[in-house]
Amino acid sequence: MKTNSKVAIIGLGNIGKVVAANLAHSNTNFIAADRSIAKANELAEKLGAIVQPGEISAAVKQADILILSIPFGEIGIFLHEHAADLEGKIIVDPSNPIAPDENGGFKKIIAAEKSAGEINAEFLPKNAKLAKAMGTLGAGSLGAAAHQKPEAAALFYATDDQSIDPQIEELIVNTGFEPVRVGNLTQSIRIEVFGDLHEFGALGKTVTRTEAQSKI
Ligand SMILES: NC(=O)c1ccc[n+]([C@@H]2O[C@H](COP(=O)([O-])OP(=O)(O)OC[C@H]3O[C@@H](n4cnc5c(N)ncnc54)[C@H](OP(=O)(O)O)[C@@H]3O)[C@@H](O)[C@H]2O)c1
Repeated sequence: MKTNSKVAIIGLGNIGKVVAANLAHSNTNFIAADRSIAKANELAEKLGAIVQPGEISAAVKQADILILSIPFGEIGIFLHEHAADLEGKIIVDPSNPIAPDENGGFKKIIAAEKSAGEINAEFLPKNAKLAKAMGTLGAGSLGAAAHQKPEAAALFYATDDQSIDPQIEELIVNTGFEPVRVGNLTQSIRIEVFGDLHEFGALGKTVTRTEAQSKI
C-alpha cells in the first residue's frame, strides 16, 4: 500500500547519509535537512533531484515522517523545541543511548533496564507517534546490506501505535530492507545496542526476515 507520506531526514551524519543513499537508490523522494544547509545541498548534489535539501524548521513543517538521525541526548530537546510543528507527525528514532568507554568500546549511558525509545516517547508532542527504527545496524551494515538480493535483510522496528505500521513498513522497504515488527516501545531495548536483536548485541549480524522472525 502506498501511503504518499513525505519523509524528512534530520541530521546528515553517519546514519542520516546512509538512510539518504538507501532511499535515493529506490527513487524515493525525501527532504534532507541539517543544521548546515551546505551539508544538505552537498548531499542533494551527490544523490540527485530525488533529494530536496532544506533547513530543519522547514523540513519539520513539510514532512509527515521525520527520521531524527541525531544523537540520543538531542532528541528530547528537539521534540520540545519543535513541538508545535510536530503535532500529529511520525517520528522515527534510530538512537542508541551509548558513549565511548575507557577501553575503546561503548557503554550504555542510561540505566541498564531502560531504552532510548521509551525515554524519547516521554517527550513526544501532542498526537505525534514514535517508531523505534533504523538503529538496529551500524552505519556500515545499513549501507552494505540495503537492497540485498536474493533475500532482503531485515530491519526491526517497535511502536506503540499500530496505525503507523504501514508508513513505517513502507519507509523500511524503501530503504531496501524487510520490516519486522518486534512489538511496542517496551521492546525497544531489544533493538538498541546491547539488545538481543541488535547487530552490536546478541544478534551480532544482519539477518533475513525468516531468521529475524524466528528470534522474536
Ligand atoms: N553511527 C552508527 O553506526 C549508528 C547506528 C545506529 C544508530 N545510530 C544512531 O543514529 C543517530 C545519529 O548517529 P550518527 O552516527 O549518524 O551521528 P553523527 O555522525 O554524529 O551525526 C549526527 C548529526 O546530527 C546533527 N545534530 C546534532 N545535534 C543536533 C540537533 N540538536 N539538531 C539537529 N541536528 C543535530 C549533527 O549536526 P552537526 O554536524 O551540526 O553537529 C550531525 O549531522 C544517533 O542517535 C545514533 O545513536 C548510529
